[in-house]
Amino acid sequence: MTFPDAELIEKLLQLKRQRKAVILAHNYQLGEVQDIADFVGDSLELSQKAAETDAEVIVFCGVHFMAETASILCPDKVVLLPDIQAGCPMADMVTAESLRKRKRELPDAIVVCYVNSTAEVKAESDVCCTSANAVKVIESLEGKEILFVPDQYLGHYVSTKTGREMHLWPGFCSVHVRITSDDILRLKREYPQAKVLVHPECRPEVVALADEVLSTSGMARYAKEAEATEMIIGTEKELIYRLRKENPEKKFIPASEQAICPDMKLITLEKVLWALKEMAFEVKVPEAIRLRAKVAVDKMLRVV
Ligand code: 13P
Ligand code: SF4
Repeated sequence: MTFPDAELIEKLLQLKRQRKAVILAHNYQLGEVQDIADFVGDSLELSQKAAETDAEVIVFCGVHFMAETASILCPDKVVLLPDIQAGCPMADMVTAESLRKRKRELPDAIVVCYVNSTAEVKAESDVCCTSANAVKVIESLEGKEILFVPDQYLGHYVSTKTGREMHLWPGFCSVHVRITSDDILRLKREYPQAKVLVHPECRPEVVALADEVLSTSGMARYAKEAEATEMIIGTEKELIYRLRKENPEKKFIPASEQAICPDMKLITLEKVLWALKEMAFEVKVPEAIRLRAKVAVDKMLRVV
């Protein structure tokens, strides 16, 4: 383990104050990045924080669609992504053009897009959702035909929870699919007392073995509040950094050593400092797309 450079952190925090910036970090960020952030959370919490901040600059330690969501909600703020290559392969599995084509085939369907999607796709959608509120969002669309994009597994999970049939886009998270039911079964044998928490981006056969299906911050809340002292964590491995920090007396076991999102790991302390110095890379959604995408995001924020 390497220890973060105290001088670098001091410079970074000083520059953050000068720029009147806030640092928002997703739960999958490297521990050193989580430690200097003003707020660490899941996709829903981060969009809520972005919407309410009075900072002039938002440094988004996460991936591109998250910075875009902040730009959709805060057009007057400068939104910075410290590495412009940090994307989400699942978000790229649906394009605005391919979605328009599918909409022509399903003219009566309401389009629900997972927040892990581009601003252009959000602009083509009726309502957005995150893993924390997807069930509530679908329940709010009583009696309507639904097209859910792009995560087929989140869509499948919500469909089983709500009893609603939906048209599912064939997208998936390349990180969560690495967690297999064999991984869970083996760990359950090894830790018979442990509760199994999984993210709804996991495959259905993995979800079927879980005690709880939760967003990343849902897992953080459960870890604090539950009596359980051992938990198998079925999501990107770095969440365990936060879980251990907040619950040093409890044991957290990663469901798979393979569940690491390389895009999330592109953000480092050095790049956060660089972003504040250079005021780059700025993520700004073009106004015509922003206004249409905002309708879908606002609709979601009204449901939760
Ligand atoms: P949440 O933190 O919203 O649960 O999302 C997980 C994820 O994969 C984000 O890319
Ligand atoms: Fe995308 Fe999966 Fe990485 Fe989240 S963990 S950013 S869904 S690839």
